[in-house]
Amino acid sequence: MRTMADAIDRHFDTLLQVPDDVRARLYQAMRHSAIGGGKRMRPLLVKASADLFGVAELSAIRVGLAIECIHVYSLVHDDLPAMDDDSMRRGKPSAHVAFDEATAILSGDCLHDLAFSVLVEETTHSDPFVRCELVKALAQASGPAGMAGGQMMDLIAETQAFDLPTMTRMQQLKTGALIGLCVEAGAILGRIPYEGRTHLHGYARDVGLAFQIADDLLDIEGDPERAGKTLGKDAVAGKATFVSLMGVERARDQAAALIDQAKAHLRGYGREADLLRAIADFAIARDR
Ligand code: IPE
Ligand code: IPE
Ligand code: MG
Ligand code: MG
Ligand code: MG
Repeated sequence: MRTMADAIDRHFDTLLQVPDDVRARLYQAMRHSAIGGGKRMRPLLVKASADLFGVAELSAIRVGLAIECIHVYSLVHDDLPAMDDDSMRRGKPSAHVAFDEATAILSGDCLHDLAFSVLVEETTHSDPFVRCELVKALAQASGPAGMAGGQMMDLIAETQAFDLPTMTRMQQLKTGALIGLCVEAGAILGRIPYEGRTHLHGYARDVGLAFQIADDLLDIEGDPERAGKTLGKDAVAGKATFVSLMGVERARDQAAALIDQAKAHLRGYGREADLLRAIADFAIARDR
């Protein structure tokens, strides 16, 4: 994870050189949120999946970088006063605290745009059809049928009671869609036809859900120093989560069962899937 985190930091550093003009503040805000502190689990998932199919490392890193751009933009906007109103992120002041709300919004917008700029470059993959499929998949995973749709449901969950299927749907969209795409991207880069991705889809669905349950558990019982963000906010906001619906014990059991199931989907693979297995374990064992 550390190797991947360093690589992602280096790529962001190169892409986000601050210009010597009045837009400097926008670049500084993007750098503030994009560089340093993230676990970079999504890029690592892309690499783990890409490794199954012998994909070049630079391709995997660049796709991971693009997905991380969308993830970081989603965090910048998620922390805004209009959404979760959080002042800490990755052990630093949130973007709107370090800068201001308007700059934070614009820096999020620009990270969203940067994601697609990274994907379409030839260095990401030599085959334009592969690049097109990646663009389509990232757009779907980010928009109303993916992350942003899940965030809308999450806001509505502050005032409306969700049953378990609706809650599951919300988590699948807000967190699961991007995590699912990370795993899918390895197969896209490896030119694996859709029918050959069934086991990976099962793995990604289970890991994505377990990852968000772990995030909701962290919000209740985590250490804010380690997590690098303010915790205990879901309950204060009256936000319905898996944990508010099921209780801590059942949520923890459910997350562990999902991870067992995720690894069972990888039965057909040998040692080449060990990184995917390790990431599945990490998704719920983590303290940050
Ligand atoms: C936090 O994501 C937001 C969720 C989708 C649960 P991460 O836990 O991956 O946060 P970083 O990227 O390591 O900061
Ligand atoms: C955020 O979920 C999911 C996103 C798509 C950004 P949370 O609101 O629970 O994430 P944290 O706890 O602030 O990291
Ligand atoms: Mg939120
Ligand atoms: Mg939040
Ligand atoms: Mg949370």
